[in-house]
Formats: sequence, structure tokens, C-alpha cells
Amino acid sequence: MNTKEGKKPGTAAGKGNDTMESLISLCKRRGFIFQGSEIYGGLAGTWDYGPLGVALKNNIKKIWWKRFVDDRDDMYAVDAALLMNPRTWEASGHVAGFADPLVEDIKTKKRYRADHLLESAGIDVKGMSLSDMNAKIKEKGIKSPDGNAIGDVRQFNMMFKTNIGATEDATSISYLRPETAQGMFVNFKNILDTFHPKLPFGMAQIGKAFRNEIAPRDFLFRAREFEQMEIEYFVNPKDWEKTFDHFRDEMKAFTRDVGLTQNKVYELEIAEADRAFYSKRTIDFEFEWPFGRKELYGLAYRTDYDLKQHSEFSKVDLSYFDEEKKERFIPHCIEPSFGLDRTVLAVLTDAYQEDTMKDEDGKEEKRVFLKLAPSVAPYRVAVFPLLKNKPVLVEKAKEIYDMIKKDFNSRNLGAVTFDDNGNIGKRYRRQDEIGTPYCVTVDFDTIEKGTGVTVRDRDSGKQERIKIEELIAYLSK
Ligand code: GLY
Repeated sequence: MNTKEGKKPGTAAGKGNDTMESLISLCKRRGFIFQGSEIYGGLAGTWDYGPLGVALKNNIKKIWWKRFVDDRDDMYAVDAALLMNPRTWEASGHVAGFADPLVEDIKTKKRYRADHLLESAGIDVKGMSLSDMNAKIKEKGIKSPDGNAIGDVRQFNMMFKTNIGATEDATSISYLRPETAQGMFVNFKNILDTFHPKLPFGMAQIGKAFRNEIAPRDFLFRAREFEQMEIEYFVNPKDWEKTFDHFRDEMKAFTRDVGLTQNKVYELEIAEADRAFYSKRTIDFEFEWPFGRKELYGLAYRTDYDLKQHSEFSKVDLSYFDEEKKERFIPHCIEPSFGLDRTVLAVLTDAYQEDTMKDEDGKEEKRVFLKLAPSVAPYRVAVFPLLKNKPVLVEKAKEIYDMIKKDFNSRNLGAVTFDDNGNIGKRYRRQDEIGTPYCVTVDFDTIEKGTGVTVRDRDSGKQERIKIEELIAYLSK
């Protein structure tokens, strides 16, 4: 429930903004991600994924699921409802405490995050209370971005309220879940009763969460609707440190799995004053975004806070009995929490590259490409006939496409695409922009000399001639 973010300075704002603008434009142009409800002028803080965005996001989900669920014997999957009994959010502390500090521009009535305004003025807000923020705003004469005076700082609850059923009164209020975590805590007993797991064990879930951000910004980084990948891992309290360290290593390993540049990932120990109230220890994994170094993932030791609260509020016993030690207790919980959309954004910003490369006529041209890891790229291979209007080339290219696709599907190696639109140069540029690591081209030598196909490497633009019988091994290396 940590709504704060790291405070380290990042890359120069100008350069970062340029990169973000270029990336957002590429995402739209190539069908990765569109503004939510765009034809109506959009809806702030919402984004719609197109075909390539879905492919990228699904690849990331699969990698996460494999590492944290399928490759383990101690993880139980859950897919809980988005709408939960509102008592859940009273027990979890979200009704009372899930709030951001808000200020209002006295003239325009626009609302801003007080901590963001203070940070923009170079003030470190770590550990500041509301009254500290108010005092600082007065002392420094901080104004709104429009240059107007701002009112007092107040708490703004970030949960989206809704009404269940036909009546719209206090008894029908519910909330869109602001984290997937609680969907696991409320099912803890169901897992105990149906699978009888021994401690330690975990529950894992990927799903949507919603937060009414005062100021959504930085593309997918701070959105109002987003997807989380979370684990609640239950332990005997004496084992919490060992488990915390284990997940710390696993989270780092996941950043490698999705291909993030390792020296852009930092670990930040969160001081007590800045931790969510339930946490006894939190490490944020921060990432060097184009707009600065900020939170990517969080690892928290939530103690027995959640299960205790839900036991008390629901009157259902959520304790665990250790048969060997004949001991009954409420398990403690370690929570590795991952933002899925943030992972998509980290992968995209990390992969975004511009260089120059000779075109087919030998002229130097500016090129944009995504240096995506093959494990996350929407397509791993694209297959082309050199010319679209030569049936002999098209037929052979289709045959090779079918062969690679069949093999890659059977081994879960990633998607393969066929492209014969426009000239070959345009096709290479298009595949570079969507991050396809390899382009396979069938030309006249393939047919006439039987010397195989050319395989072009996305990053270097270099081509190699590969025999058809060696192609699959070459592409899957
Ligand atoms: N479950 C932790 C979070 O959503 O921040």
C-alpha cells in the first residue's frame, strides 16, 4: 500500500520527456498501447493495450507465472473478484488510511499531490506529516503549477467507490480493489481447508487494481487502472528474514528474466517513517526511468497484520496449526508486489533505441528500434518473401513461416509473423520498431541455388545466410 515513490534525481528532464514522447508515439503508431477511450478525448489515467502490447504483456505474465508459480511446489494460484465485501477494506486499513496528500489551486480548483509540489521545489518529503507539509508550503511560499495560491493539505482516499445493487446509499457502498493482495488474504482459509498446505507456502495472483490517483502521469507509470502480480507468502515468524532474502533474490532474477538492464535496477531500504503502516521492513526495487529513479516493485514484511485484522473483522479463525510442533499461531506474511504495467513500461523505455543505419540504397538513415529481450518481444521471428509479387518467393516464404511457427509453438518459444507489405526496407524498419529480434528473408538464391535464407539481426542490421535445415536451431539459440 505504499503510495510514495523514491526521491532520487533522474536523467535530465528534457531528454527524459523526449524519450517518453517518442515512445508513446511509437506505442500508438505500432499498435502497442493507446490512450483509453481515445475517440472521446480519452480518460485520464487509463490506457488500452493493442495486439502488440497484449503480446508483450502476456509474455511478461508468462515469465512471472513460470518463475513464481509453475516452477515451485509451494505456490497456490488465486483469481479473486475485483469487487469485495466492503468490510475487507475496513479490516485492511484502506478505508481509514489509503490516502494521498492533496492540495487545491484556490483559483482554478485543480488538485495536485502536495508531496509532488514540494519535491518539484527540491524539498525532501520523506517522513513528513500533513502538518509538516502545510508548514513547508507556507514557509517556502509554494504555489500551484499555474502560479496560484494553494489551500491546506488534506488526505484524499484513493479507492474508487461504487454502489452494489439498485440502491445508492451508505449500505450499498463498495470499492474497486486498490490491490490484489486482499483477495488472497480473504481466501487464506479456503486454501488451508482445500489443499492443507504446510508452512511456508504462498498465494499468487495476477489481476487488475484501481486507484483514484490525484495526478496520473508518466504514461503507464501512474495510472488509475493497472495490473498487479502479487504474492502473499506465509511463514512462521521466526523464518521471516530468510524468506524475505529469498524473494529479494527472486525479484532481482525476474528483472533479469525480462531483460532489464541490471545497472538501472536499484534496491532501496525504506525507512520506518516512509513504510506502509503494516510493514516492518520494505525494500523498493527502483528503476532508472526516463523521468527519474522511482519505484518499480516492492517487497514488504507485512507481519501477521492482515490475517489478524481479517480474523477480527470477520470473526473467522485464520490461525494455522503446526502438527509437528503442536503450535497454533497466525502466520506472518512476506509480500513481493510487482506492477505489471510498470514492468511493460520499464521494458519499453529500456529497449527504446535510436541509431543510424544504411538503407537499401546505402544512404544513412535514422532508425528507431526496440532492443527487447527475445523472451518478451511480441514476435520472435518475422518471415518475408523478398518480393511480394513473385509467387515462387511467397510460397517458399509461407512454407518456411509454417515450419518455424509449428516448431516455436510446440516449444513455447514465442510468436512468429509473416510480412509481405511494402518494400523489404520498410518491413525491416517496421520489425525493428516493434522489437522483432530476427527477420528471415526468402530470396532468389533460396530457390535457385538452394543456399538457404538470409537472417537479419535487429540490433546490428547484419545479415547471415543460413541453410534451411539449420534455421530453427539458429533462431532458437
Ligand atoms: N499490495 C501492495 C501494494 O499494492 O502496494
